Amino acid sequence: MSASFFAPYQPGSSSAALPPGVVLRPADLDDTGALAGIEAAVRGGNMDLWRTAMEQALLRPRSAVFVACADAVPVAYAKASWLAKVDDGVSPEGFYLAGCTVLPAHRRMSLGRALTAHRLEWIAAQSDGRPGGPGTAVDAWYFVNAANQASLALHAEFGFVEVARGPRFHGVEFTGGEGVLLRSSFVV
Ligand SMILES: CC(C)(COP(=O)(O)OP(=O)(O)OC[C@H]1O[C@@H](n2cnc3c(N)ncnc32)[C@H](O)[C@@H]1OP(=O)(O)O)[C@@H](O)C(=O)NCCC(=O)NCCS
Repeated sequence: MSASFFAPYQPGSSSAALPPGVVLRPADLDDTGALAGIEAAVRGGNMDLWRTAMEQALLRPRSAVFVACADAVPVAYAKASWLAKVDDGVSPEGFYLAGCTVLPAHRRMSLGRALTAHRLEWIAAQSDGRPGGPGTAVDAWYFVNAANQASLALHAEFGFVEVARGPRFHGVEFTGGEGVLLRSSFVV
């Protein structure tokens, strides 16, 4: 996982409220090109490979992709997926947040916050995520490069706390050699 796409960590400034023209909705296959374009713009790389990755994400079972549109144009997206246990001793099964990406011109406007709240509601709505039934706590997981402070700050707001550190989780390796695995137990 490359580190060059991280947003600069700016703890001294606060995000603006979500602009009124922003709409969040589930993404569908018609969004494949737009989501691939967001990834290519932020993380770089080949558009065809991003299209393939997006199609796979959109078709994946037990998974959701949400897109945020400003004046009907996709400017950010994020995923949530069930990940099965990996026999590496450090990658538990569960619902994971992943791939929250906001175009630079639309950052610090609470889009990441809104996409994260949306995905946690989706995880809570999955019956397997709440074995005790409505009103009981749900676990959500997330892993990130340890150097991605902007992402860590965003997720701290939602109660994510560090569970482990390591060079890889669920097969994802981290540039610089260290990632963080975090969990939030929440009730909605
Ligand atoms: C991380 C990212 C998704 C944040 O999206 P965003 O829409 O700009 O974030 P929000 O405006 O919703 O910020 C919500 C909170 O997150 C934290 N935060 C977000 N960006 C931050 C930054 N650059 N520096 C410090 N804190 C930040 C703040 O606590 C903020 O709350 P505030 O109102 O108190 O300032 C965005 O910077 C991005 O797309 N980065 C590149 C891709 C990436 O690293 N994704 C995460 C790993 S998968």
